[in-house]
Amino acid sequence: MTLHRLREIYSRGEKIATLTCYDATFARVLDDAGVDVLLVGDSAGMVMGGETTTLNVTMDAMVYHTQCVARANRYAWVIADLPFGSYHESSKQALRNATRLIQAGAHMVKLEGGGWTAPAVRFLVERGIPVCGHLGFTPQSVHALGGFRIQGRDPDAAEILADQAQALVDAGAEMLVIELVPTPVGTALTKALRIPVIGIGAGSGCSGQVLVLQDMIGLTRGNVPRFVRNFMIEGGSVEDAIRRYVTDVKAGRFPDDTVHGY
Ligand code: KIV
Repeated sequence: MTLHRLREIYSRGEKIATLTCYDATFARVLDDAGVDVLLVGDSAGMVMGGETTTLNVTMDAMVYHTQCVARANRYAWVIADLPFGSYHESSKQALRNATRLIQAGAHMVKLEGGGWTAPAVRFLVERGIPVCGHLGFTPQSVHALGGFRIQGRDPDAAEILADQAQALVDAGAEMLVIELVPTPVGTALTKALRIPVIGIGAGSGCSGQVLVLQDMIGLTRGNVPRFVRNFMIEGGSVEDAIRRYVTDVKAGRFPDDTVHGY
């Protein structure tokens, strides 16, 4: 997978199937099952490390997980998260840390936040590092946002989101993750932008979908968000569940806004 090919998939209106991945075993399974994009998310801190937030994830941990995924991956596009505090000081700090992730095998880095990140995004893009933005519910700001809450509910908040997204595109971001917003907001953002918008809890109108792998194969204990579907319920193997996820995302059968939407 290349950025060029991802743009082609997007341009012809095909949905982009994305899943989180943190290790080599799953990377090979996901890659074989036709997942377009593997996201080495900083959710690794919660899923692999048992943390309650993503805030303690270090650059060393992200480099390690990115290496594990990249070693096994053959086809998919690999995005790695810049963790909390790794791009907040300056564009130079963002470049230093993004360089580590790219050298670990990522093809693109993802960072969270609106307009304040635009200078760092531009700085990375100008230096040849593709960047994915992340707006809506941004887990690294969980305390500032008052917990795990739906974002962009009222028209003013939705307009701010739209402005932030456009600022990221103007700075050169090639992809955007939008998390936990009402379906009409996810759809409107996707229509307004000229880059793929990958939704998680953002409805069916996005250019693609992402879920945390362990959520969608039913391994997560405790509260699982409403936007998740357990693809293991229909039986079969993990590989089969992943293949059905890819098929259902591409066919527009997942998410079902009446079940998974806000
Ligand atoms: O870290 C992560 O897994 C993410 C997804 C929730 C989009 O950023």
